Amino acid sequence: MKSDSKQHEIKTSNQKNSKIENDNKNYAELVVIKPVGYPFDFTMMDEDIEIKNPKLFEEYAREQWLGLVVREKSHLFDQKIIPDYGFEIITAKPNNSIISEDTKIKIITDEIEKNKDNKIKSDITLDDIVGQENAKSKVKVITKYLDDPESFGPWAPKNILFYGLPGTGKTMLVKALANELDVPLYLVKATSLIGEHVGDASSKIHDLFKKASENAPSIIFIDEIDAIALHRSFQSLRGDVSEIVNSLLTEMDGIEENKSVITIGATNNQTSLDLAVRSRFEEEIEFKLPDDNERLTIIEKNLKTMPLEYDLDLEKIVKLTRGLSGRDIKEKILKTSLHNAISNDCEIITMENIEYALNSFKIKNSDVKGMFE
Ligand SMILES: Nc1ncnc2c1ncn2[C@@H]1O[C@H](COP(=O)(O)OP(=O)(O)OP(=O)(O)O)[C@@H](O)[C@H]1O
Ligand SMILES: [Mg+2]
Repeated sequence: MKSDSKQHEIKTSNQKNSKIENDNKNYAELVVIKPVGYPFDFTMMDEDIEIKNPKLFEEYAREQWLGLVVREKSHLFDQKIIPDYGFEIITAKPNNSIISEDTKIKIITDEIEKNKDNKIKSDITLDDIVGQENAKSKVKVITKYLDDPESFGPWAPKNILFYGLPGTGKTMLVKALANELDVPLYLVKATSLIGEHVGDASSKIHDLFKKASENAPSIIFIDEIDAIALHRSFQSLRGDVSEIVNSLLTEMDGIEENKSVITIGATNNQTSLDLAVRSRFEEEIEFKLPDDNERLTIIEKNLKTMPLEYDLDLEKIVKLTRGLSGRDIKEKILKTSLHNAISNDCEIITMENIEYALNSFKIKNSDVKGMFE
């Protein structure tokens, strides 16, 4: 066994899941769980499980956990086929509610974590993303659609393209979406679909769409899609571009009308995309650089997580960071300022540290000059 503390934790979490605690009969609408394995090591046991039929699993799970209280981040344990196998409760709507016969139970098994490109850390939420209201509205539509696919009939969202300058929140938004939804999200970087040999990409693209179709409703997110869907004028750069583009087109078209598979692509440059691929995206949503208010919010949100106190003129920083993306603000300005403060044994971050960061970022902005004099 790994540790006593783990055992203890599991016991308490079992107790927490007891039927007595929740007096107000608050029933769960939705519970999303993730398999986490056994509470102890035993070499004969295979830690991975594969759910062949999510609906069947839902019935099986609901029956055995009926009446239990579900609380996010606590655990539920299988009592039947694989006794003591643990599932972490990722989402409980509402939190601290009771599983009833009407509770939807979803399991994320999950490509998200098996795929090495998939670095989804599910602590990003939509609220963390500043601005990008168009994209957020679309995410709302997707969420509504996945809640009730039939009601959309032929008007379902299918293919959406996110485009915009680097560091404006495209990948971040999809990570938040993954966190928000209880359907599988296949997150791939386009470059990882290109193999060493001609034909590798086609078969990888085929496998990806096949898996997503089998597990529909689902979402495919192809980050940096320009790497595989280059405009034909760039074909001289890679000999197999047209083969890859054709595979992508075939797969995008091959998804049956009634299958709820949504494909989201992201790119810095939508004009470099193959026209046929581009035309299949029903909507192109631009991710813009943050305006003054949005930069202020990004700065404030990031400062809250800093390990040092600060004494800063935020309005001034907002001015000085005009034209920078969310990533630049966080990584190039705030992080460099913090590190500069730490390296100088400062107890608080001051405008001097910010000035250092801005100078090392070499902003060609005349406002910077004289700002600190
Ligand atoms: N709109 C935003 N709100 C809050 N933080 C942001 C925003 N945009 C970017 N950031 C910060 O920048 C980081 C990088 O953003 P992200 O990876 O989503 O950019 P991207 O648009 O996918 O860039 P690229 O085109 O280079 O892939 C985020 O993790 C976050 O810290
Ligand atoms: Mg990105």
